[in-house]
Formats: sequence, C-alpha cells, structure tokens
Amino acid sequence: MAITPRILVFAGSVRTGAFSGRTADVAQKELAVQGAEVTRISLADYPLPILDEDLEREKGIPENAMRLARLIASHDGLLIATPEYNGSLPPLLKNSIDWVSLARRDGARAFRPFAGKVAGLCSSSKGRFAGIRCINHLRAVLVRCQMEVVTPECSVPEGGSAFDADGQFRDERLRQSMERLCRTLIETSRMLSVRIEA
Ligand SMILES: Cc1cc2nc3c(=O)[nH]c(=O)nc-3n(C[C@H](O)[C@H](O)[C@H](O)COP(=O)(O)O)c2cc1C
Repeated sequence: MAITPRILVFAGSVRTGAFSGRTADVAQKELAVQGAEVTRISLADYPLPILDEDLEREKGIPENAMRLARLIASHDGLLIATPEYNGSLPPLLKNSIDWVSLARRDGARAFRPFAGKVAGLCSSSKGRFAGIRCINHLRAVLVRCQMEVVTPECSVPEGGSAFDADGQFRDERLRQSMERLCRTLIETSRMLSVRIEA
C-alpha cells in the first residue's frame, strides 16, 4: 500500500503578511487536498544566530537547529516558499539551511537531515519577476545538501495582488502550477521515503 507522505512546509520570511507565507498557505492546503500529511512551521519558532564556525566550535549546534534538523529528518519532503533578496536567498532561509547542514550527529547516531529528502520550491515577490532568480539559487543549495529537488515549481509575481480574499491564487495558471508541483512532490516523496521517526 502507498505510504502517506509527510511534508514539512515553511516560508523563507516571517514578515507579517509575507507573500511567501501566503504562498506556503496555498501549498499547505493543496498538499493536504492531495492526501499528504502536512506539518506547517514558521522559522520564527527556530531562531538561530548567524552561523560562525567559531560559535559552532565553542558552543556546538544550537538546540533550535537540532530541533529543525530532527523535524526535517522525520518527514519525507519539504515544501519551501521563498522570497528573493537581491536576486538570491534571504539570510533567514540560508542561515537556517546552513545550520541544519552542520547537524551530522544526533547523540550517538550519524545524521544527514537533508540527504535523500525531496524538496518542492515556490518563490514570490512584489514585482513581476516572481523570485525566479532566487529559486534557481535555492535549488542549487539544496542539491548541494543532497536533496532531490523536483522539477515543477511555482513562482508568484506581484504578491500584493496575487491572492483573493480566501487566500487562493487569482490566476488560474498559478493554481495549476501549484497543483502540479504538489502532485510531483507527493509522488516523488512516496518513492524515495527515508524518514527517521523523531
Ligand atoms: C533586502 C531586500 C532585497 C530585495 N531584493 C529583491 C529582488 O532581488 N527581487 C525581487 O523581486 N524583490 C526583492 N525584494 C522585494 C521583495 O520581493 C519583497 O520585499 C517581498 O515582499 C519579500 O518577501 P515576503 O513578502 O515573503 O516577506 C527585496 C527586498 C528586500 C528587503
């Protein structure tokens, strides 16, 4: 019998009313409609210092990075909705990924939280380019972390007018691209499931 994939959803911005947060909301609903077990988090609940290898050497991996790493390890896939800062990843998202990538042990257990997990990506911006430069950078970063990043993606332009009163996309093509992204993420997560129970 096919497993119910567990998908962790979060945005790369914690700003009130963030377009990436609203895009993550759409993804969360679509993944649930398509039968995934969805966990939604905010990176605001995993505050981390800016990564500095001296800090890591002196104090180890912060507990919030370990919490996030364990959560990722207990899921089959991630859905990340990112904003674009200066054509690339916002520091909150990159810093969180970098800390989690350093979590190589959990107690006595060897640990690669990202390895073999599946990722689906969304981007958004207030302008017309929808964060498409950032999504390519994010894809490369996650592949470097040994994730399998699915090909379909959903990029939302003009975030200020992209959502209706119910929080759904106004544009039918965006709805279709989210539907396709979620379907591919679920199917690939099912095939490659390597989750470690928390
Ligand atoms: C430091 C900074 C750099 C930005 N650079 C870009 C950019 O390169 N491309 C873009 O489309 N928008 C850029 N923006 C505007 C963001 O698209 C906009 O602030 C967006 O609302 C942020 O995402 P959020 O709504 O998910 O918080 C930038 C914003 C900030 C604060």
